[in-house]
Amino acid sequence: MKIARFSRIGFILAAAGSAVGLGNIWKFPYITGENGGGAFVLVYLLAVIFIGFSIMLSEMFIGYLAKSDTVTSFEKLAPKNKNLWKYAGFQALTGLFIMTFYSVVIGWIFHYVVTSLVALPASVEEAETVFTTLLTSDAWTQLFYHTLSFIFITYIVTKGIKGGIEKLNMILMPLLMLILFGMFAYATTLEAFSQAVDFMFVADWSKITSESFVSAIGHAFFTLSLGMGAIMTYSASLKKESNLVNNALWVIFLDTTIAIVAGLMLFTFLYQYGSVPAKGPGLVFISLPAVFYEMGVIGNIFAIIFFISLAFAGLTSSVSIVEPMVQYLISRFNYARVKASIVVGLLFYLVGAVALFSNIDTFKEFLTIGSRNIFDWLDYITASILLPLGGLIMAVFVGFVIEKQRIESIMKPQLGFAFEIWYFSLRYVTPIAMFIVMLSLMGVL
Ligand code: PHE
Repeated sequence: MKIARFSRIGFILAAAGSAVGLGNIWKFPYITGENGGGAFVLVYLLAVIFIGFSIMLSEMFIGYLAKSDTVTSFEKLAPKNKNLWKYAGFQALTGLFIMTFYSVVIGWIFHYVVTSLVALPASVEEAETVFTTLLTSDAWTQLFYHTLSFIFITYIVTKGIKGGIEKLNMILMPLLMLILFGMFAYATTLEAFSQAVDFMFVADWSKITSESFVSAIGHAFFTLSLGMGAIMTYSASLKKESNLVNNALWVIFLDTTIAIVAGLMLFTFLYQYGSVPAKGPGLVFISLPAVFYEMGVIGNIFAIIFFISLAFAGLTSSVSIVEPMVQYLISRFNYARVKASIVVGLLFYLVGAVALFSNIDTFKEFLTIGSRNIFDWLDYITASILLPLGGLIMAVFVGFVIEKQRIESIMKPQLGFAFEIWYFSLRYVTPIAMFIVMLSLMGVL
């Protein structure tokens, strides 16, 4: 059977497309705001370099070497206890959980593209009412856009690695960069730009708490799409002559640059137009639309293209979130790609719909278990438990389980002297950091 392989640029764009998502444009700016700016950004950058890079390289290595779905990869590469290690591959399921609410959020973004065409809210208060009404009482609008998002993502995945995923990323990623860099260029001409630069790059250590460290590491992890087999599954379609180090560095570079550019741009707009930066998830959906309104006509245009670019970022991540599960069904159960994509699509669609209803006032009570509703549970379980756990397992697997010689023969020529540093980090630094992060995100520490 002829297996479709990514082109070099196709792989980098697809992996960067996976990494650059709602995490970069929506989440990074608001958690930077919550954690006081500069010092947090520095901790985040260190986490990306020391922990993110190590795990990304391990995931790429496992995928590249095993060339299979996540379950088979662990099974194949474990020298012994294969039957036990294959369970590590069930991290592919994490994607299914993430996709449930990720698709709902993409739906909100679609809705915001349309509202930006019609009318922007004239004040932060109005913007807040618009957003809260959508979330807590307008189930049908949300369901409509969640359905669109499900159809689009599933359709792309049915087309496979080459004709679907690579193609989508080859088109949307350059467009996304063009839009963001264009808006960023405009932001640099505004007076408040220097204020935004100060905010993001001048470290005020008094704002940093141990929680900031944990959220910086946790976010570095989420934003690089690590810990659930997305990068691993893509790497299974790498060509034999690929240089993993080079690829990993490109993906990390693009992901980090885009997060910083988005952050600088948003903070410039917020400072320039005097909006109180809503320091929370409402930053993009509440403060920003009100700021765009203040900007006048250019604000309308910016609002539309900004939400379009956010949708692009979300969609290119989504296909990577479902692909591990789709690949698993194809290679372990012999499903045709179309069937596998539809099965996975329907699963996230249906659970996503329930999650969506759990935010609606009338249903909230029935769909709340303990302290959280279903939507929040899905977010919490994936970001705070499953992803760090997946990363921990990956580091231990490459650091302690696969024979060192085998790793050395492929990675030493690419890493040179840095090989031992990477290996050391995988054995001792990364697993411990992941473990601490997981416990504190779970509230145990
Ligand atoms: N990296 C994506 C983002 O920043 C999210 C993601 C997580 C994608 C895990 C794939 C796997 O939004």
